[in-house]
Amino acid sequence: MRTTLLIALPKGRLFDPALGLLSRAGISTDGGQGSRKLTFQDSEGIYEFVALKPADIPVYVESGAVDAGIVGSDILREQDFSVYEPLDLHIGLCRMVLAAQDGVDLQQVQHMRIATKYPRTATRFFAARSRHAHIVRLEGSVEIAPLLGLADAIVDLVETGRTLRENGLTAVEDVSRVSAKLIVNRTAMKTRAGAVRSLITLLDKVVYANS
Ligand code: PRP
Repeated sequence: MRTTLLIALPKGRLFDPALGLLSRAGISTDGGQGSRKLTFQDSEGIYEFVALKPADIPVYVESGAVDAGIVGSDILREQDFSVYEPLDLHIGLCRMVLAAQDGVDLQQVQHMRIATKYPRTATRFFAARSRHAHIVRLEGSVEIAPLLGLADAIVDLVETGRTLRENGLTAVEDVSRVSAKLIVNRTAMKTRAGAVRSLITLLDKVVYANS
């Protein structure tokens, strides 16, 4: 059995904020720099980390292949994962919005087509408003879909707003607030209780100090 606690970190825009948070919590790593190894340890050998595609992290944590992970609430809400979710980390803060091309009134659009990486979240959003929308699932760069005529609007993340602006889009309505969460495997929560609890305590202190 592993002696270290194995934690999945999200590749991409959340990776550096996640390492920064760990560092402020006194968990220092080199982030796997200069190595081709997919896993790396903290300097004290208490934790082991693996950098994964964000969407895969809840899958690994739910199965127990890794003990814990850091992942955006956008991904957690898109599917139902059976994982323990003890802490909002207050990093990766952004909004999920419905956005349309500048000047387009979506109320006037019949048979609205929505491009998104979040089909279930978007479906729930429109169902809650009793509006019918045809969802077009894309893998990324969804802001281009209205420009190319694939969709009338998008449901996507906005952080600085720059991508929307530069592609002639305007946020029409908020879908949800998004932030990164710590998630933990349900079995690890019991079998690795001490290690998990001390990780939560370390991170919680940093989150609390910053809030
Ligand atoms: C995300 C998101 C938006 C953009 C928003 O995309 O999907 O496209 O960032 O950021 P901004 O408001 O600061 O401009 P990401 O870079 O993760 O790539 P993707 O489009 O391939 O999903």
